[in-house]
Amino acid sequence: MTPTRLRGTLPGWLRALDEGTFGEAWGELEPHEAAWMIEGAAFARWSLVEAAKEAELLRIAVDPEQRGRGLARTLLRACEAELAATGIRDLHLEVRVSNAAARSLYAGAGWRESGLRKNYYRDGEDAVLYAKRLG
Ligand SMILES: CC(C)(COP(=O)(O)OP(=O)(O)OC[C@H]1O[C@@H](n2cnc3c(N)ncnc32)[C@H](O)[C@@H]1OP(=O)(O)O)[C@@H](O)C(=O)NCCC(=O)NCCS
Repeated sequence: MTPTRLRGTLPGWLRALDEGTFGEAWGELEPHEAAWMIEGAAFARWSLVEAAKEAELLRIAVDPEQRGRGLARTLLRACEAELAATGIRDLHLEVRVSNAAARSLYAGAGWRESGLRKNYYRDGEDAVLYAKRLG
Protein backbone atom coordinates (compact mmCIF):
# COMPACT_ATOMS: atom_id res chain seq x y z
CA MET A 1 0.00 0.00 0.00
CA THR A 2 1.45 3.31 -1.09
CA PRO A 3 1.32 6.46 1.05
CA THR A 4 -0.21 9.50 -0.64
CA ARG A 5 -0.53 13.11 0.41
CA LEU A 6 -3.99 14.06 1.58
CA ARG A 7 -5.65 16.93 -0.28
CA GLY A 8 -8.97 18.57 0.52
CA THR A 9 -11.35 17.46 3.23
CA LEU A 10 -10.60 14.51 5.48
CA PRO A 11 -12.24 11.26 4.36
CA GLY A 12 -14.72 9.60 6.72
CA TRP A 13 -12.54 6.55 7.47
CA LEU A 14 -9.71 8.86 8.55
CA ARG A 15 -11.94 10.90 10.87
CA ALA A 16 -13.27 7.66 12.38
CA LEU A 17 -9.72 6.30 12.87
CA ASP A 18 -8.63 9.62 14.39
CA GLU A 19 -11.54 9.68 16.82
CA GLY A 20 -11.30 5.97 17.64
CA THR A 21 -7.57 6.23 18.33
CA PHE A 22 -7.29 9.56 20.16
CA GLY A 23 -10.80 10.04 21.57
CA GLU A 24 -11.55 13.09 19.46
CA ALA A 25 -11.03 13.90 15.80
CA TRP A 26 -8.69 16.86 15.23
CA GLY A 27 -10.77 18.51 12.50
CA GLU A 28 -9.94 19.62 8.97
CA LEU A 29 -6.35 20.40 7.96
CA GLU A 30 -5.21 23.95 8.65
CA PRO A 31 -3.20 25.83 5.99
CA HIS A 32 0.05 25.19 7.91
CA GLU A 33 -0.63 21.46 8.19
CA ALA A 34 0.03 18.50 5.92
CA ALA A 35 -1.04 14.87 6.10
CA TRP A 36 -0.22 11.61 4.37
CA MET A 37 -2.29 8.47 4.36
CA ILE A 38 -2.38 4.84 3.38
CA GLU A 39 -5.90 4.69 2.04
CA GLY A 40 -8.33 3.17 4.52
CA ALA A 41 -5.56 2.12 6.92
CA ALA A 42 -3.31 4.85 8.31
CA PHE A 43 -2.59 8.56 8.47
CA ALA A 44 0.08 10.92 9.74
CA ARG A 45 -0.63 14.59 10.37
CA TRP A 46 2.06 17.27 10.59
CA SER A 47 2.29 20.93 11.52
CA LEU A 48 4.76 22.83 9.34
CA VAL A 49 6.85 25.88 10.16
CA GLU A 50 8.34 26.30 6.73
CA ALA A 51 10.25 29.51 7.55
CA ALA A 52 12.14 27.56 10.21
CA LYS A 53 12.33 24.45 8.01
CA GLU A 54 10.65 22.51 10.81
CA ALA A 55 7.75 20.11 11.07
CA GLU A 56 6.04 18.51 14.06
CA LEU A 57 4.34 15.15 13.88
CA LEU A 58 0.95 15.79 15.49
CA ARG A 59 -0.62 12.37 15.11
CA ILE A 60 0.08 9.04 13.47
CA ALA A 61 -2.38 6.17 13.63
CA VAL A 62 -2.89 2.81 12.00
CA ASP A 63 -6.19 0.93 11.93
CA PRO A 64 -5.97 -1.52 14.88
CA GLU A 65 -6.69 -4.47 12.57
CA GLN A 66 -3.78 -3.54 10.32
CA ARG A 67 -1.07 -2.89 12.90
CA GLY A 68 2.18 -4.82 13.04
CA ARG A 69 2.55 -5.02 9.26
CA GLY A 70 4.96 -2.17 8.73
CA LEU A 71 2.37 0.42 7.69
CA ALA A 72 3.47 3.07 10.19
CA ARG A 73 7.12 2.63 9.23
CA THR A 74 6.26 2.91 5.52
CA LEU A 75 4.09 5.97 6.11
CA LEU A 76 6.66 7.71 8.29
CA ARG A 77 9.40 7.09 5.74
CA ALA A 78 7.24 8.55 2.95
CA CYS A 79 6.37 11.62 5.03
CA GLU A 80 10.00 12.25 5.85
CA ALA A 81 11.05 11.97 2.21
CA GLU A 82 8.36 14.38 1.03
CA LEU A 83 9.02 16.84 3.84
CA ALA A 84 12.73 16.77 3.01
CA ALA A 85 11.89 17.44 -0.64
CA THR A 86 9.99 20.60 0.38
CA GLY A 87 13.02 21.90 2.29
CA ILE A 88 12.06 20.81 5.81
CA ARG A 89 15.17 19.95 7.82
CA ASP A 90 14.14 19.36 11.45
CA LEU A 91 11.39 17.12 12.75
CA HIS A 92 9.91 17.06 16.24
CA LEU A 93 7.25 15.13 18.12
CA GLU A 94 6.08 14.34 21.61
CA VAL A 95 4.66 11.06 22.79
CA ARG A 96 3.41 9.55 26.04
CA VAL A 97 6.15 7.92 28.08
CA SER A 98 4.04 4.74 28.22
CA ASN A 99 3.53 4.46 24.45
CA ALA A 100 6.06 1.70 23.85
CA ALA A 101 4.90 0.88 20.32
CA ALA A 102 5.22 4.46 19.08
CA ARG A 103 8.53 5.03 20.87
CA SER A 104 9.96 1.90 19.28
CA LEU A 105 8.68 3.03 15.89
CA TYR A 106 10.43 6.42 16.22
CA ALA A 107 13.67 5.00 17.59
CA GLY A 108 13.76 2.47 14.76
CA ALA A 109 13.22 5.26 12.24
CA GLY A 110 16.25 7.18 13.46
CA TRP A 111 14.59 9.68 15.79
CA ARG A 112 16.46 10.54 19.01
CA GLU A 113 15.08 11.47 22.39
CA SER A 114 15.52 15.20 22.90
CA GLY A 115 13.73 15.99 26.15
CA LEU A 116 10.97 15.30 28.65
CA ARG A 117 7.88 17.35 29.51
CA LYS A 118 6.67 16.52 33.01
CA ASN A 119 2.89 16.24 33.57
CA TYR A 120 2.34 17.16 29.94
CA TYR A 121 -0.92 15.32 29.34
CA ARG A 122 -4.22 16.11 31.03
CA ASP A 123 -4.03 12.88 33.03
CA GLY A 124 -0.59 13.87 34.37
CA GLU A 125 1.52 11.57 32.21
CA ASP A 126 4.88 12.85 31.03
CA ALA A 127 5.73 13.37 27.35
CA VAL A 128 9.00 12.31 25.79
CA LEU A 129 10.25 14.58 23.02
CA TYR A 130 11.90 13.15 19.93
CA ALA A 131 13.73 14.93 17.13
CA LYS A 132 15.20 14.02 13.78
CA ARG A 133 17.42 15.98 11.42
CA LEU A 134 16.69 15.21 7.77
CA GLY A 135 19.30 14.88 5.06
C1 LIG B 1 2.23 3.24 16.94
C2 LIG B 1 1.52 2.73 15.67
C3 LIG B 1 1.30 3.92 14.74
C4 LIG B 1 2.43 1.69 14.99
O1 LIG B 1 1.80 1.28 13.79
P1 LIG B 1 2.13 -0.12 13.06
O2 LIG B 1 1.73 -0.01 11.65
O3 LIG B 1 1.59 -1.24 13.86
O4 LIG B 1 3.73 -0.14 13.18
P2 LIG B 1 4.70 -0.96 12.20
O5 LIG B 1 4.12 -2.30 11.92
O6 LIG B 1 5.08 -0.10 11.05
O7 LIG B 1 5.96 -1.19 13.15
C5 LIG B 1 7.13 -0.39 13.02
C6 LIG B 1 7.90 -0.47 14.34
O8 LIG B 1 7.09 0.10 15.39
C7 LIG B 1 7.34 -0.61 16.60
N1 LIG B 1 6.09 -1.26 17.04
C8 LIG B 1 4.91 -1.33 16.37
N2 LIG B 1 4.00 -1.96 17.13
C9 LIG B 1 4.60 -2.29 18.28
C10 LIG B 1 4.17 -2.92 19.47
N3 LIG B 1 2.91 -3.36 19.63
N4 LIG B 1 5.06 -3.06 20.50
C11 LIG B 1 6.33 -2.61 20.38
N5 LIG B 1 6.80 -1.99 19.26
C12 LIG B 1 5.95 -1.84 18.24
C13 LIG B 1 8.40 -1.64 16.29
O9 LIG B 1 9.66 -1.02 16.50
C14 LIG B 1 8.18 -1.88 14.81
O10 LIG B 1 9.33 -2.36 14.18
P3 LIG B 1 9.59 -3.96 14.10
O11 LIG B 1 8.39 -4.51 13.39
O12 LIG B 1 10.84 -4.06 13.32
O13 LIG B 1 9.69 -4.44 15.50
C15 LIG B 1 0.17 2.05 16.03
O14 LIG B 1 0.38 1.12 17.08
C16 LIG B 1 -0.93 2.99 16.42
O15 LIG B 1 -1.69 3.49 15.59
N6 LIG B 1 -1.05 3.28 17.74
C17 LIG B 1 -2.08 4.19 18.26
C18 LIG B 1 -1.78 5.64 17.91
C19 LIG B 1 -0.49 6.12 18.51
O16 LIG B 1 -0.10 5.77 19.62
N7 LIG B 1 0.21 7.01 17.77
C20 LIG B 1 1.46 7.57 18.21
C21 LIG B 1 1.27 8.79 19.01
S1 LIG B 1 0.61 10.13 18.04
